[in-house]
Amino acid sequence: MSSTEPASPEASPRPGGAGGSGADGPGPPVLSGPSIGGVTLAAPFTLAPMAGVADRPYRRLCLERGAAMATSELASAAALARRGKRTSELVRKDPAWRGGAPHCVQLFGKTPQEFADSASFCASELGADIIDLNFACPSRKVVKSGHGAALLKTPELCLRIAEAAVKACGVPVTVKTRPGFSPEDLPEPLVYSLAPKLADLGVRAVALHPRWATQGFGGKADWRITERLAALLPVPVIGSGDVDSAPLALKRLRESGVAAVMLGRATRGRPWLFSECLALWRGEPAPVIGREETFLCASRHARLLESERGKRAVFVLRSVLSWYIRELRNAAAYRRRICSSEDVNEQIDILREALLGGGGDEPPEGDARPGGTELP
Ligand SMILES: Cc1cc2nc3c(=O)[nH]c(=O)nc-3n(C[C@H](O)[C@H](O)[C@H](O)COP(=O)(O)O)c2cc1C
Repeated sequence: MSSTEPASPEASPRPGGAGGSGADGPGPPVLSGPSIGGVTLAAPFTLAPMAGVADRPYRRLCLERGAAMATSELASAAALARRGKRTSELVRKDPAWRGGAPHCVQLFGKTPQEFADSASFCASELGADIIDLNFACPSRKVVKSGHGAALLKTPELCLRIAEAAVKACGVPVTVKTRPGFSPEDLPEPLVYSLAPKLADLGVRAVALHPRWATQGFGGKADWRITERLAALLPVPVIGSGDVDSAPLALKRLRESGVAAVMLGRATRGRPWLFSECLALWRGEPAPVIGREETFLCASRHARLLESERGKRAVFVLRSVLSWYIRELRNAAAYRRRICSSEDVNEQIDILREALLGGGGDEPPEGDARPGGTELP
């Protein structure tokens, strides 16, 4: 299965550089991630918000493996402003998580009032340490109703929303965005003029996925836009887009001037990517992830999902467990068996058979340590 590349000098930490702060005086430099309005990340690698993927169990799994922050999936500001129970439970801070990573809740909406009400509710009642405003989602349903990236068509509204959220919630507010809605709209990316104004209003960091909203996920993320934004903003820029390995994460961190790198799709079935990033950043040997570790990680993922969703976990696990076996030669046959199973224990047995050839005990709860990151 997956093995990691050795640490290279190219990828060694850069004390005092992007995403690493050198301590004064003798001794090795103390590495840390950026400070977001006074909330300091332990490292410059975060999990991207991903609707339908980055739920609480998945965020926990990534935090255990070294993600410095794991932003929640986008949640409706309107529903939270109404104190909607289901949405509140989706974004509530994980009560079992004892690690230090801040809890970041992402909101989508379209009026300053609903953003202000929901941001304040999340900070005071649901344990949010950081509120992230979604000016990025390009999905047709979201855009059609004036949410997500549609807000980029009315920059004035973006500013009023940010101002209202900053004033209301008392915790740092960040924005996740795209360069602009469509490249035809403006001579250059809107984000160059919008983001500095957001920072003036008190937004403490900006995460950029450098594809225009009209591109969706097509083409390539244009990190030249991210680089230029990082050079002109007085607050940390977090770079997102097409980072699929630890060496590339380190390269982006060193070369683009971002304060942190956000990893998304590449972590699916590979949450230990964070441990690999951390090892390279610290100049330590990268962990080697074999089939045993893959099984430990995937079965922990299954148990975390089961403890959150009960029997309904079986449906989510049909896709989740398939992520972990996709590199196997006979993945399709195992995927079919996992997908037709109605029982979590059976799904784990099939996974064991796929990865380890059957037999063996499931590891005890909390004993999974792929990637070498200590569990809390
Ligand atoms: C399934 C999926 C769901 C996503 N949901 C969100 C979301 O809720 N909020 C958001 O800001 N971005 C969302 N994104 C975008 C990611 O946060 C990220 O910016 C993008 O996937 C590019 O990074 P990657 O190439 O590392 O995946 C989503 C992406 C995917 C693939």
